[in-house]
Amino acid sequence: MIKKIFLFLFVTSCLVHELHTSEVSFIKSCKAGDHECLLAANTQIAIPYIADGIAELEIPALEPMHFENITIDQGFFKLFLQNMKVTGARKCKVAEMKRNFRESTMKMTLDCPLEATGRYIFSGSLWYHAISNEADFLIHAA
Ligand SMILES: *[C@@H]1O[C@H](CO)[C@@H](O)[C@H](O)[C@H]1NC(C)=O
Repeated sequence: MIKKIFLFLFVTSCLVHELHTSEVSFIKSCKAGDHECLLAANTQIAIPYIADGIAELEIPALEPMHFENITIDQGFFKLFLQNMKVTGARKCKVAEMKRNFRESTMKMTLDCPLEATGRYIFSGSLWYHAISNEADFLIHAA
């Protein structure tokens, strides 16, 4: 899966570099030969495509992500998240991209304005009082 994404990024990088260098403003802002900058710019262009999923590479859509049941059980409290839907993957921005040739690794930092909705059921105790609560939730992460 990861390999496929990188393959896709690589292919996209080549294509985008060939086709759009003069059209896309933030690629123009890369200095000639600044491969880090080009890679980050190309990845940025690829993100919405990846978020929508790529059937040919069996990459499922990341937008929206759906989680049916998540349970966080900490002993003294229990949080149950139901039907969680996460959107915003296609709006991710490449904040940082660094390649380390010696170790053959790549580090990518994404800023994603994610939004999650669903229903939560909380039960636990706070200062020896049992609390339980159930409601819809909306979480913004910037
Ligand atoms: C999720 O939780 C609900 C309620 O407890 C349950 O009915 C359902 O089977 C669960 N689904 C999965 C996939 O575990």
